[in-house]
Amino acid sequence: MNRITNHPILDQEKPSREVTIFVDDKPILAREGEMIAAALIANGIFINRYTLHKHKPRGIYCAIGRCTDCIMTVDGVPNIRTCITEVREGMRITTQKGAGAWQEEGQE
Ligand code: FES
Repeated sequence: MNRITNHPILDQEKPSREVTIFVDDKPILAREGEMIAAALIANGIFINRYTLHKHKPRGIYCAIGRCTDCIMTVDGVPNIRTCITEVREGMRITTQKGAGAWQEEGQE
């Protein structure tokens, strides 16, 4: 995992419980209390969605919930801003294509 463990302002990383989340059906480890986007970056995942018309990749831009570049489909719900949404054990996250679509459980 790629994480900052000793920051000059934020100090040392606090210990936290690990949870498993699924990104495009692949299990990855995340830290309880962190945002989805942080967990993705820590696991080397930088593309959150593809744009509607030109299918261009997008990832984190503002990281404060304002730009919507980081949206993904989370537990079947499209357009979730991953930079301001906490991970939860067993959460299923899908790279969003275009406007996204609501998904039933077990549907891709
Ligand atoms: S990166 Fe801008 S809303 Fe998440």
